Amino acid sequence: MSTTSGIARRVLRWREQFGRQGLPWQDTRDPYRVWLSEIMLQQTQVATVRDYYTRFLQRFPDVDSLAAAPLDDVLALWSGLGYYSRARNLHRCAQTVVRDYDRVFPARSEVLISLPGIGRSTAAAIAAFCHGERVAILDGNVKRVLGRALGFGADLSQAANERALWQQAQALVPARGVEAYTQGLMDLGATLCLARRPHCDRCPLADVCVAHQQGQAEAYPVKLRRTRRGARAHVLLWLSQGERLWLVQRPAKGVWGGLWSLPEFESVAALHSQSTGWPGQGKTLPSIEHALTHFDWTLQPLRWRLPLRLSAARVQAVTQGLPDGQWVERSTALHKGLPAPVRKLLGA
Ligand code: ADE
Repeated sequence: MSTTSGIARRVLRWREQFGRQGLPWQDTRDPYRVWLSEIMLQQTQVATVRDYYTRFLQRFPDVDSLAAAPLDDVLALWSGLGYYSRARNLHRCAQTVVRDYDRVFPARSEVLISLPGIGRSTAAAIAAFCHGERVAILDGNVKRVLGRALGFGADLSQAANERALWQQAQALVPARGVEAYTQGLMDLGATLCLARRPHCDRCPLADVCVAHQQGQAEAYPVKLRRTRRGARAHVLLWLSQGERLWLVQRPAKGVWGGLWSLPEFESVAALHSQSTGWPGQGKTLPSIEHALTHFDWTLQPLRWRLPLRLSAARVQAVTQGLPDGQWVERSTALHKGLPAPVRKLLGA
């Protein structure tokens, strides 16, 4: 038996015994549920996704209910999962399926890939899990597993090399059992074939893995063009009067797009130039460190409580210089789509 068919056989056998079982999205072939789980699981670990997934399905049990919901409700349920463009695309995708596909997710991966938020690997996962289509997945984890097993040493930041690995991944897909194989690859990548200090001692591919044989598992996959992380700092204004606070909806594009948040300022000085003459006083709170994909963000909150007895005109004088927003009762605010660090700050 060749090494390549040996890879699928080993993954399948390992998955039977050691694969993750009992996850809420595993006992269904309903494309809506599988799609939802795959989108949530992009860049997010199983342990985090579980509760979100269950809550989401309670509120939106099918593609119709999701498509009909206001985006704000979708973002509110997504709050804390991060990467909010996923939630916006999820909503758009549901609307597309209802409008253009008569409420039924397309079966084939090459059609799925045309829908918002569904990339090649996610399309393949959905088609494999729901319909047993023999098509390869290649997300970040699987690039690591296969890159190592095959000793694929070309630089994956070059599109041509990535295409070559896709081809090899496709050649590995077994004739039978594509669902279990696909899940097995994901499980291997998440539990044994880790980026740092992989557990090669327990890996079913160790005896055929080129990288392991070289003693070089961590050298794969090769990605030469790294995204350089930057750092940013902003000031967040937590302006309140009694139980209400001033919230702004962030622009659809960019970090926390479409979520509700506190007004953001470039610097303390920029905020001071606004707040001069405001009634009451501000208090600096401990800063928040928040890591995003491309940068580390330091958020410096400034709490400003306006006195309760204040004429409408004076309140308006304060808010007219702020980014467009609205007064929201704190209890209502906590039901909106807030970024996780802001929710935490507000004391939820
Ligand atoms: N990551 C992406 N899809 C997954 C799945 N179906 N199970 C576990 N982890 C995953």
